[in-house]
Amino acid sequence: MENKNYLFPDFDKLIFGGDYNPEQWRHTPEIWDEDMRLMKLAHWNEATLGVFSWAELEPQEGVYDFSVPDAIFEKAEKNGLKIILATPSGAKPRWMAEKYPETMRTADDRHRALYGRRHNHCFSSPVYREKIANINRLLAERYSHSPALLCWHISNEVNGECHCEHCRRAFVEFLRKKYDNDIEKLNLQWWTRFWSHRYDNFEQADPPSSIGENAVHGLTIDWKRFVTAQTADFMKHEIAAIKEYSQKPITTNLMGFFTGIDYRELAKTVDFVSWDNYPNWELPWGDVGQASWIGMTHDCMRSLKRKNFLLMESTPSLVNWKDINKLARPGKMRISSLQAIAHGSDSVQYFQWRKSRGSSEKMHGAVVDHYGKEDTRVFSEVAALGEELEKLSAVAGTKVISKAAILYDWDTIWALQDMQGMQKNSKKYGEATHLHYGAFHRRGINVDLIGRKDSYDEYDVIVAPMMYICEEETAGRLASFVENGGTLVGTYAMAQVNENDLCHLGGWPCGVLMDVFGLRAEELDTLYPEESVKINAYGEEYTAKDYCEILKVKDATVLGTYGSEFYKDTPCFTVNEYGKGKAYYVAFRDKSGTFTDKLIGEIAADKKLPTAINGKEIPKGVTAKIREGAGEKYLFLLNFSGKGQTVELDGEYTVITTGEKISSVYLPLNGGLVLKA
Ligand code: GLA
Ligand code: ZN
Repeated sequence: MENKNYLFPDFDKLIFGGDYNPEQWRHTPEIWDEDMRLMKLAHWNEATLGVFSWAELEPQEGVYDFSVPDAIFEKAEKNGLKIILATPSGAKPRWMAEKYPETMRTADDRHRALYGRRHNHCFSSPVYREKIANINRLLAERYSHSPALLCWHISNEVNGECHCEHCRRAFVEFLRKKYDNDIEKLNLQWWTRFWSHRYDNFEQADPPSSIGENAVHGLTIDWKRFVTAQTADFMKHEIAAIKEYSQKPITTNLMGFFTGIDYRELAKTVDFVSWDNYPNWELPWGDVGQASWIGMTHDCMRSLKRKNFLLMESTPSLVNWKDINKLARPGKMRISSLQAIAHGSDSVQYFQWRKSRGSSEKMHGAVVDHYGKEDTRVFSEVAALGEELEKLSAVAGTKVISKAAILYDWDTIWALQDMQGMQKNSKKYGEATHLHYGAFHRRGINVDLIGRKDSYDEYDVIVAPMMYICEEETAGRLASFVENGGTLVGTYAMAQVNENDLCHLGGWPCGVLMDVFGLRAEELDTLYPEESVKINAYGEEYTAKDYCEILKVKDATVLGTYGSEFYKDTPCFTVNEYGKGKAYYVAFRDKSGTFTDKLIGEIAADKKLPTAINGKEIPKGVTAKIREGAGEKYLFLLNFSGKGQTVELDGEYTVITTGEKISSVYLPLNGGLVLKA
C-alpha cells in the first residue's frame, strides 16, 4: 500500500501551533513557564519562533545573544513542543540601517526609505546578504541538533522591491542574459520604436518608475519577473547558509493571491509552501462566496508544488488591520481551520500565541489575551480544536487528488494590469477564475490551480479563464492536451499576447488554438457596469456583463448566441471536436454564474469527474472535500451557509471523533464534521 506523504519524516500528526514571540516578554521571563502551561492546555504541539527577532539575537554588530531561543528550545524539548524556527530577515536592527544605509530600500522615485516598520531591506545589498547569512549560520549551527526543531521558516511574507543602484545593476544583468546581450532583441520584444523609446545599450534599461518610464510593457513585465528572480535569489542565499548546518525541510509563508511575486517561481526555492490566511468572515451578505474564494486560495497554494502545505498563520478570533475588524462567530474559526486541512494543509497555526502589549498589533487577536488566563471564549475554542485535531491525526499526509485544473498565471495578472483597454482599472481576472472555480467547488470536485507551463498530464479537464498571455509553445501543449482526449474551456481575451506582452499577429486565440477551438475571436466589446447583453444557450436565457467577444466560427459547433446588441444572433458559446477531445469557447462574461455552473456541470458529468458525495446534491454553502491516501479516505463537510443544513451521504461513514456511523448528517450553523469512508 502506498505511504502517506508526510511533510516531515519525523512527524506524522497534524501540526497545531503558531507564531510565538517570547522576546517581547524577556523582562518578565516567568511568563514563558506560564506559556508552556497554557500551550499544553491549548493542545499546541508547535511554536514558530524567531520571526522578526534580529535585534534580540544581534543587539550590536557582531554581538550575539541567544538566551531567549536557548531558553525556549530547552522548554520545548522538555514539553514535547516542536519548533519551526524563522530566520530574522523580515526586519532589521536599527544599528544596521544606521551603519549601512544601503541595506534600506529605495523606492521607485529613487528615494531611500528611512528606518522603520518591516520588510524594508534591499534584496541585492551585499552587506545585508552577508549579515543574514551570518546570523542564519549561527542559528542553524546552534539549533540543528535539537530534537525540538521541526523545520525552517525563511523570513516572513517576503515582498517588495528596491530601486537602488545594486538592484539596477542586477536588473541590467538579468536583461543581458534574457536577451543574449543583444539590445536589438530587447528593442523588438519591448516594441520600443513606439514613442521613440529605443534603447542604445543595456545600461539605459533603468527599472520602471512612477516619475519615469512605465509605459513600455515589455519593461514592466520583465521588471516584475526580475523582482521575483531577485527575491528567489535572496531566499536561496538564506537557505544555503542554513543548509551548511541543517538538513531539515525549509518553507516560507506566502500571502495567497499576492500579486507582487510570481509565487510559482518562488515556491521552487523551498521544500513545501505555507501561507497566511485571513478571510473576511461574517459578511452581511453571508460567507458562501468567501468560503469558495478561500477554498480557491488554498487550492492555489497547494498547487504551487502539488504538495500539502502548512497554514502558517490565521487568527484565533479577529485581526486589527482591516477597515472593519469583526469577531469570528462561535464555531467559525473551527470550520475555517478545518477548511484549510480539507484543501491540503497539514496544520492549523495562528498569529499569534500571546497578544502584544504595545505597538501596532496590540489589538490583533491571539490565543492568550491581555487578560492572560485560559477562561476565555477564544482560548476554549482553540483548545477544543487542538483536542479534536489530535483525534484527526490520521488525516496528515493524505492528499487532495484533482482531475480538473484551472490555469492561473502571475504573468497574466501583470499583463492584464498593465494593458490599457477593456475595463482599464480592473480586468477582473481573479473574478473570472473564481466564477469557474465556484462551479467545481460547490459540486465537491477537487481542482488544482496550475500555471500554463506546468504539466497537464494528470488532468481530464482544463479551464483557461482570460488566458491573455499564451506563447506559441503553450498553445501547442494545450492543443496536444485536447488532441489526446482532454476537455479544454477557453474564454474571451484568450491568447492575445506572447510572454513579452507583444500582441500575436494573424488572429486570436493565437496559432494552433484557432484550430483547436475552430474559430477566431475578432473583436472584444466592453460594456458599462450597468449594462448587460442577453445570451441564448441550453434553450434558456442567460446574461452577459462586462465583456462580449465577437466570433468568426469556422469548424466549431455553435451552442449559444447573443440575444441582443448589434451582434445579436452571432455565436457566443461553441464546442469543437479536436483529435480525441473537446474545446469549449465562452466569448462573454457570465453575469450570475448560472451559465458557467451549467457548463461545468455538463463537463463534469461527461468526463466523470469524481465528486465528494456521489450522486447527491450538496446544499449550497456546504463545502464537501475529499482527502485520501494509503487506502484511507476522509470526507470534510463544513457548513458556511449561515443556517443549519442536512447533508445526505452516498453510503455509510464514520464520524472520526465519536466513532458513530452515519449516512446523513445535520450540520448546525458554522458546524462541520470530518468523516472516514
Ligand atoms: C501577517 C504577518 C504577521 C502579522 C499578521 C497580522 O500575516 O506575517 O507578522 O503581522 O500579518 O495579521
Ligand atoms: Zn536595492
